[in-house]
Amino acid sequence: MENRSFMAQWVYTDTVKDHFMNPRNIWDEKEGWKADGVGEVGSLACGDQMRVGIQVADGKISDIRWLTYGCASAIASTSMMSELAKGMTLDEAYHLTPQMITDSLGGLPEHKFHCSVLGDKALRAAIDDYLEKTGQPNPYKGTIARIICECKGVTDVQIEELVKSGECLTFEALSAKTGCSTACGKCRGRIIELLEDYKHIYAKD
Ligand code: FES
Repeated sequence: MENRSFMAQWVYTDTVKDHFMNPRNIWDEKEGWKADGVGEVGSLACGDQMRVGIQVADGKISDIRWLTYGCASAIASTSMMSELAKGMTLDEAYHLTPQMITDSLGGLPEHKFHCSVLGDKALRAAIDDYLEKTGQPNPYKGTIARIICECKGVTDVQIEELVKSGECLTFEALSAKTGCSTACGKCRGRIIELLEDYKHIYAKD
């Protein structure tokens, strides 16, 4: 019985398993690959850290590498993100979302969704870095959600949507859904403030 419930939780698609077992575009530092822009998010202390490097040619991501210390879902998600981003324009890549990545993986178990949210943020940070290093204006920065929980890459927009839909109306529900505040915990106060703000804005009665 116990064994069956363990197996029931271990529900990963073949695509997730493939990307976990054979991750694409891993950054092997011995390879001598040089990035035009680098982005890092998360923190090692929290067990999830992500680094993404990009090369850019003709306004498109011509090549990409990444490193993470995350779990199987984080590895599969970042591998998929790297495959999706390669060949995209900077504009397209900046708008890549965790949902697009998990959809391409054929889904992730609900409690693993939060493992997929660092890759796109690290990619955005790499694009920011590239534009800054090359002295180009950045039309994207500030147009996309702000990260509120750095350890788990949870943004104000995610929190807003979950409160707006009525799916998460308590701190505990938000934390269970997104993983926010489950590592260092320093974001807790800010998340509670935002939760109260959005509940006030979207209160139905
Ligand atoms: S910033 Fe560390 S748990 Fe949110």
